[in-house]
Amino acid sequence: MTPHVAAPDPQAGAAVKAADRAHVFHSWSAQGLIDPLAVAGAEGSYFWDYDGNRYLDFTSGLVYTNIGYQHPKVVAAIQEQAGKLATFAPAFAVDVRSEAARLIAERTPGDLDKIFFTNGGAEAVENAVRMARLHTGRHKVLSAFRSYHGATSTAINLTGDPRRWASDTGSAGVVRFWAPFLYRSPFYSETEQQECERALAHLEDTIAFEGPATIAAIILETVPGTAGIMTPPPGYLAGVRAICDKYGIVFVLDEVMAGFGRTGKWFAAEHFDVVPDLMTFAKGVNSGYVPLGGVAINAEIAATFDKRPYPGGLTYSGHPLACAAAVATIQVMEDEKVVEHAAHLGENVLGPGLRELAERHPSVGEVRGMGVFWALELVRNRETREPLVPYNAAGEAAAPMAALGAAAKKNGLWPFINMNRTHAVPACNASEAEVKEGLAALDAALSVADEYTA
Ligand SMILES: Cc1ncc(COP(=O)(O)O)c(C=O)c1O
Repeated sequence: MTPHVAAPDPQAGAAVKAADRAHVFHSWSAQGLIDPLAVAGAEGSYFWDYDGNRYLDFTSGLVYTNIGYQHPKVVAAIQEQAGKLATFAPAFAVDVRSEAARLIAERTPGDLDKIFFTNGGAEAVENAVRMARLHTGRHKVLSAFRSYHGATSTAINLTGDPRRWASDTGSAGVVRFWAPFLYRSPFYSETEQQECERALAHLEDTIAFEGPATIAAIILETVPGTAGIMTPPPGYLAGVRAICDKYGIVFVLDEVMAGFGRTGKWFAAEHFDVVPDLMTFAKGVNSGYVPLGGVAINAEIAATFDKRPYPGGLTYSGHPLACAAAVATIQVMEDEKVVEHAAHLGENVLGPGLRELAERHPSVGEVRGMGVFWALELVRNRETREPLVPYNAAGEAAAPMAALGAAAKKNGLWPFINMNRTHAVPACNASEAEVKEGLAALDAALSVADEYTA
């Protein structure tokens, strides 16, 4: 789909930028060092600025516009809902809220049939942890070092990546462990099977030494996202499920990023034939058109709160506009076979295309992923696997990745960059031609990264 791009209007862009710089305080940023692009519009897989530059979005926003920008059916559903009932308090039964919950529960695995709605992913994680703690009467939660679970208090403490450090209380009841990652194995493994066995043994050792009766939950991203899209080896998640059952620990899968089609299934858990006790979601549930997240709860944990009140809530839990957007998004994904298309892109276009790039570019150490959820691990040297930039590099140390990003943008591609990786995470409904256009731009950008290899 070729989007309509408005005529350039640099003056309007300058005014947007000036007000932003004067008054908007941005996430995760040194406010004086950033230069946010003023966005004039977006449609499908593209967005554009006020100077006439159009970009193919290989980031899906923050990996959430799974059906692209401005899908007309979802926009119309939000408009229609606004005209009918723009808002209503969470204590009431409201048609779109009921319908969104029904459609989500129908797609979640196993008996995850009750939905607690939140405004986003971090709140979903906070509430999943609260439910697990109340259900078990235990306090500790185990999470993986290579992970991201959100920026609120418990969620950021559960997070493994350096965004945690500034807010780490060290006493939030969180214990971190190493999940499998063969390319940079913490267990010196040489095969997927070894990595799986050793990671499970390490997890069980951690539980033994922490005290099984103190542990409420283990939380894992089904496929870790921002931390590097590390598909777990066969058997790992089933092994974690078995460990949780053995010790009475609640198993939480965080599908905030991996859910709603991104891996080529409705939920990534389906690839591994595993059913958690609680599952968090957000982002793709309505492509982020209106903030929405939630926890899908199994029958046993839901029953804990049958006679006993659940001590948690949010003014906008199940907001009608967000739920209308979810109902329309899920309908569009069914009608347009978006999940199947994401799987097809991964198997036949994006996956093979990225592997072909890896053959020609010495800076690519590993290609991994599925569906429209891929990472390129960039290295200085394929033999030593030294990352192209050090862990958590900033400023001059991160220059190779900045150069790659600039080259991608020059070629009309907006890339996802995190540490020494670029992720290829287009919309689930991107066309084959759009994905090929992105691959061509990445090809050019990787030639710049290659200059830093040795
Ligand atoms: C796996 C995962 N969990 C939780 C979150 C937090 O979601 P939110 O930013 O909506 O609070 C994210 C956000 O990227 C995520 O990727």
